[in-house]
Amino acid sequence: MKSLFAKMAMATTLGLGMVSVQLPAHADTKVGLILPYTGTYAALGNAITDGFNMAIEEAGRTDEFSIVTEDTEAKPPVGLAKARKLVLQDKVDVMVGVVSSGVLGAMRDFVHQSQTPLIVANAGNNLATGENCSPYIVRVSFSNGQINRPMGTWMAENGIKTVYTLAPDYSAGHQMIESFSAAFTAAGGEIAGSDFTPFGQTKDFGPYLTNAQSSGADAIFVFYAGGGAINFVKQYGSFDIKTPLYGSGFLTSPLYVAAEGDAAIGVRASLHYIPTLDTPENKAFVDAFMAKHGTMPSEYSVQGYDAGLALMAAVDAGGADKKNIAAALPNVSYVGPRGALEIDPATNNIVQNIYVYDTVMGDDGLTQKLIDTIPSVRDDVAGCQM
Ligand code: BEZ
Repeated sequence: MKSLFAKMAMATTLGLGMVSVQLPAHADTKVGLILPYTGTYAALGNAITDGFNMAIEEAGRTDEFSIVTEDTEAKPPVGLAKARKLVLQDKVDVMVGVVSSGVLGAMRDFVHQSQTPLIVANAGNNLATGENCSPYIVRVSFSNGQINRPMGTWMAENGIKTVYTLAPDYSAGHQMIESFSAAFTAAGGEIAGSDFTPFGQTKDFGPYLTNAQSSGADAIFVFYAGGGAINFVKQYGSFDIKTPLYGSGFLTSPLYVAAEGDAAIGVRASLHYIPTLDTPENKAFVDAFMAKHGTMPSEYSVQGYDAGLALMAAVDAGGADKKNIAAALPNVSYVGPRGALEIDPATNNIVQNIYVYDTVMGDDGLTQKLIDTIPSVRDDVAGCQM
């Protein structure tokens, strides 16, 4: 595996900035990118795709990988149908993607039975690396518990006594809030109330914000991402709620925080990546990403990028076909923009730092200020038997 810098140097020398990775003539490995390209998570799917393509292009290896993309629409039955199509009809060697925990849950048994390696580049579904783990599922993004558990403890230890929680009513929303609440109460906090809002359909958060404020809680803690996050934060701002807003860091992702505007200022959140991390690997990545896309990268672009690095590392270690990729993936380790990464062989989930950050106004617009780092967060095995 070439280092990030070696790959970047090669990409620069060869001028590969705009090379497409779609269907090259002599590809050795067929990749199915299975992501939402429409609906509330469409921007996330596009960002993951950009990150994945960037990793392959920088390495100068576009001719090794042919790519078929499928739109899950973030709907579990659609995701399962698209996974079946990619494996049975397109005969892909490996799938990369899945944004929604619901889609990952729906695909899990088919992935396992078809013995097709899946590199999870977003969906945090705890069960996929817990009691429903599989040797064919390796996650380079995060688990829902991994992001929220540390924040529950952190908030209780930093003076927040009562919290009102809100999240969309689907598996990710429930798992994120359950993980947060369990850690928060274990550290002495109290949950003042909780609501789950219809997923992808809630346009008016007013009644929920009113409930949260009138509960008298010290803070509101939420999980929203994509279009839901933009609507929620804007409405939180326009209702002029005085209760401070905390959340899973997807709430104020650099991918869409500009659309949230000033309402995002002061929101405090936890996440596995922010583009302001002061490491040489991250700075090189941010510069390359800015040069190519003209925007700051987000956690979603990094997840796609790291999925590309993991795939290339697996191919280098074991070979280009389905069986070898599946065998090699759990053992890959590499340095990405988040720093040195490893996959926990007991669960196939990534082990990584979690960052507490504030959204603040910087010289060039909204940016992420690092507040604290919770190092090397690893999930419990939680019933996983490979
Ligand atoms: C999920 O469904 O797991 C998810 C979706 C968007 C952001 C983070 C997690």
